[in-house]
Parts: sequence; C-alpha cells; structure tokens
Amino acid sequence: MRITLFGATGRMGQLLTQLALDAGHEVTAYARTPGKLRITHPNLSVVAGQLDDDEAILEAVRTADAVIEGVGSESEATRRIITAMNTAGVKRFVVVSTCSVPDPDDLPDAKFKMLVRFVKTAAPRAYAEVRAAAQAVRASDLDWTLVRVAKLNDKAASGNVKVGNYGHGVVGLSVTRADMAAFLLAQVSDGTYVRSAPAISN
Ligand SMILES: NC(=O)c1ccc[n+]([C@@H]2O[C@H](COP(=O)([O-])OP(=O)(O)OC[C@H]3O[C@@H](n4cnc5c(N)ncnc54)[C@H](OP(=O)(O)O)[C@@H]3O)[C@@H](O)[C@H]2O)c1
Repeated sequence: MRITLFGATGRMGQLLTQLALDAGHEVTAYARTPGKLRITHPNLSVVAGQLDDDEAILEAVRTADAVIEGVGSESEATRRIITAMNTAGVKRFVVVSTCSVPDPDDLPDAKFKMLVRFVKTAAPRAYAEVRAAAQAVRASDLDWTLVRVAKLNDKAASGNVKVGNYGHGVVGLSVTRADMAAFLLAQVSDGTYVRSAPAISN
C-alpha cells in the first residue's frame, strides 16, 4: 500500500516508518524537518512542509491509500489533512489521539478522571487541541480511527497490546512506542476499528 505519514520524524514516527517499509509499503513522510528522519529506503519519499502548507499536504496525500497522523495536538493541521484527503479522494485516516478524548463506551473511574483533569490543568492548550482534532476527525466522512493512548514509553516491543475502552479493567495507561507503531500500521489494512476510537496499552 501507499501510506502517508505525518509525524514520521518523531520517536514513534521513525519506528512506524521503518515498520511500514519493512512490511513492503511505499511510504511518504511529510516533515517540517526532513533531516531528522534517519531512514533511507528506495520506497521512502519525503515531502517537506509545515502543517499549514495546504499545497504540500495535498501533494503528500494525493496518491495515498491511507494516511497516518501522529503530530500531536494540532487540530488545525488535522483539519487541513482532512481537507486534502477529501480533495484527493483518500478515505483511510488513522490518527494518534490521547486519553483526554472521551468515548461514550468509556467507564472512567475517579483515578482516571483525576488524570484527565491533571492534563487539562497542566497542559490546557494540548488538551483543547487534541479534543478539537478528534471532533474534526469524527465529523469527517473519512474511514477514520482515533487510536487513544495515555503514555508512551521506549521499552522494547512486547507484541502484547490490549485494545478497548478506558475503565473496563482491560486497557491501562502505558504502551511502548514500538507496539503503538505496529498497531497503527495494522489499521491501514484492517477495518475492525473504522469510525471508532480504541484505547490501547500494554
Ligand atoms: N509522549 C506521550 O506520552 C504521548 C501520550 C499520548 C499521545 N502522544 C502522541 O503520540 C505521538 C507520538 O509521540 P512521540 O512522543 O513519539 O512524538 P515526538 O517524538 O514528540 O514526535 C512528534 C512528531 O510530530 C511532529 N510535530 C509536532 N508538532 C509539530 C508542529 N507544530 N508542526 C510540524 N510537526 C510537528 C514532530 O516533528 P519534528 O520532528 O519536526 O519536531 C514529530 O515528527 C504524538 O502524536 C504524540 O502527541 C504521546
């Protein structure tokens, strides 16, 4: 498949880029700092641009079969990517989200609510942006999946990812970047979580 990645230069993004290439996909990485991408591969191309460059974003997604976004709390960028995907007729959109984004099937306990309140107080802009981004994704006609995580770490891949909703005693708070990258990549060819917002953890 042809996959466009936003956030490919990040810690999780570089793992995802390598995984996608190893799996035989053609990858387009959209990056404001292409020099940070430590990977070279015949199936990897880079489109350089900022997140407000509509022309470059369209160029990056134009021939994609799927787009994965992991740039963090930038709702305007998410809206611009959605617009570009609509223009290009690309449907599959896998988006990194966080535990600050609720889902109707969550059953948050007091400890979880306290964590989200802490995020809201400590990082109000990021909190508001990630929720606004999720709202834009949910309002779109794309085949979207919001992959919600609370805390990433750099331990080795475990291959053991729990998927579900917060508060049901299954999904915890922490996941390795490697396991998250593998989960995101799997979504491009798996419709199980289309138009839903699974939470994941180890
Ligand atoms: N760290 C956590 O515990 C945690 C928890 C929940 C969700 N997340 C999300 O999980 C994803 C991966 O996390 P990570 O810690 O591996 O990420 P990271 O290393 O911080 O990398 C973030 C990526 O997003 C890009 N980016 C961020 N802000 C940008 C902006 N304003 N304009 C253009 N590009 C921008 C970065 O580009 P540059 O390389 O150019 O800076 C980089 O490619 C992110 O979306 C993050 O928000 C993380």
